[in-house]
Amino acid sequence: MNVLVGYATAHGSTREVGEHIAARLGEKGLRAEARPMREVDDADAYQAYVLGSAVHGQAWLEEAKDFLRSNSDLLRSRPVWVFSVGMPDALRGPWKRTAARKEDDVLAKDLAELVPFRGHRLLSGVIRPGHLPLTGRVFFRLMGCRYGDFRDWPAIEGWADRIAREYGPGPREYRPGHGSPAE
Ligand SMILES: Cc1cc2nc3c(=O)[nH]c(=O)nc-3n(C[C@H](O)[C@H](O)[C@H](O)COP(=O)(O)O)c2cc1C
Repeated sequence: MNVLVGYATAHGSTREVGEHIAARLGEKGLRAEARPMREVDDADAYQAYVLGSAVHGQAWLEEAKDFLRSNSDLLRSRPVWVFSVGMPDALRGPWKRTAARKEDDVLAKDLAELVPFRGHRLLSGVIRPGHLPLTGRVFFRLMGCRYGDFRDWPAIEGWADRIAREYGPGPREYRPGHGSPAE
């Protein structure tokens, strides 16, 4: 089975997450390859898709949403999992969990309008001061956020293992308000 792990990145952390997921799926016996979505012009060569994007402004990068739109018919007919790489773990304080849950929901609902998927996972990536403009850095500090690499590799591997286990025939769509099936 050929699995495309497609990613869209601004600063590279989502690429590394995608490569890690592909390697892990490979260890579980699937033939998976990680590629930037914007370079994929043979999407129908794959039987399943694990697609992820960096999050900017609580949304996927436009190039990633373009991939979903332009391959919509194909993606509706085959199993799809989606992941978003944001910064929930950069947050501190009592609202951290609520904010992460809210963002997860916003992203999942947004994506569900573009393509049915079996599961969505919001992961933490990498945030450095140089990634943000001055106003963004000020806001970031006011929110009490921390810079750093927050990727949780065991959690990422756990999610990939779950995909490898779940990978089977039959559509199971995400329905807003009913939770993500892969959670
Ligand atoms: C301009 C900008 C806007 C961002 N907006 C969000 C956001 O709304 N929500 C979030 O969780 N993370 C946000 N982030 C954090 C990134 O999603 C995170 O750093 C991620 O690891 C970036 O992935 P990349 O290295 O593949 O570009 C933002 C980062 C930048 C640079």
